[in-house]
Amino acid sequence: MATRKGTRRLEPQMSNASPSLDNRARTRRYAAPLAPASLFPGPRMCSAAHMVRTTAPSQNSGPSPRTVPLRPMTVPAAEAEERARSFHDVMSRRRTVRDFDSRPIPDGVLEWAVRTAATAPSGAHVQPWRFVVLTDPERKRRLRAAAEAEEREFYSRRASEEWLAALAPLGTDAHKPFLETAPAVIVVFEVHKGPHTPRPYYTKESVGIAVGLLLATLHQAGLATLTHTPSPMRFLNEICERPPEERGAYVVPVGYPAPGARVPDLVRKPLDQVMTRL
Ligand SMILES: Cc1cc2nc3c(=O)[nH]c(=O)nc-3n(C[C@H](O)[C@H](O)[C@H](O)COP(=O)(O)O)c2cc1C
Repeated sequence: MATRKGTRRLEPQMSNASPSLDNRARTRRYAAPLAPASLFPGPRMCSAAHMVRTTAPSQNSGPSPRTVPLRPMTVPAAEAEERARSFHDVMSRRRTVRDFDSRPIPDGVLEWAVRTAATAPSGAHVQPWRFVVLTDPERKRRLRAAAEAEEREFYSRRASEEWLAALAPLGTDAHKPFLETAPAVIVVFEVHKGPHTPRPYYTKESVGIAVGLLLATLHQAGLATLTHTPSPMRFLNEICERPPEERGAYVVPVGYPAPGARVPDLVRKPLDQVMTRL
């Protein structure tokens, strides 16, 4: 596809919008002989390996992958900026909350949030995630006790001075009452190769994107979240009854913020410090 500057751009792998002849010829280049290992030879090759050129012919041949028509989002171009801006306005109000109310989470919200998280793209479409929702008070109590034990080690011994200094403006310490006070805690696991699960690719990246969607959906539903990462996280397997090939990655308390909850006074970088146009 031609860009504004007349250069050719790489088409994403799953952009096949219709099963037209043209398109089939294009998708044929994703041929089956591309084993996952050759699809993802290494991080430096990532973007190229994930995409197919629409112009240059490829060496690959073989049966076409099965395709379905794309169901594109149809947003009139005139509304695009406004839609993007209003989503920004919603997301700019998301804050990490560490002080939760005991008010229950309305039915269905957690399920929709996890469904949305599970729409995330993932390396080779392995979907290497598992979301464990804890609401049982006894299990949350055990989670808190185990997490606080690790955190005491972290704050007193494991964390470098530099790390502690970076955390200072957040006012965090080894106490994690939110693991009990939040009505739900979603523990997110990376799913690695095991007896019944395939080898994942770009696991951390995939799970990180899924967690981003999870947080965005919960925020959109009016709920607050905390992205908590006790380290190490092995204790999560026993509490969440997950097998060894699953590795805890995030602990996300969810609920309404406590009345009068306060958050650190943080400033987000302006656009010109986070975006470069070339
Ligand atoms: C990967 C990751 C790990 C984090 N781990 C913790 C954590 O263990 N404890 C905590 O209180 N906050 C944790 N946070 C929350 C950050 O401190 C918070 O996102 C940051 O201070 C910015 O604040 P905001 O989310 O309100 O914009 C984590 C955030 C991320 C993305």
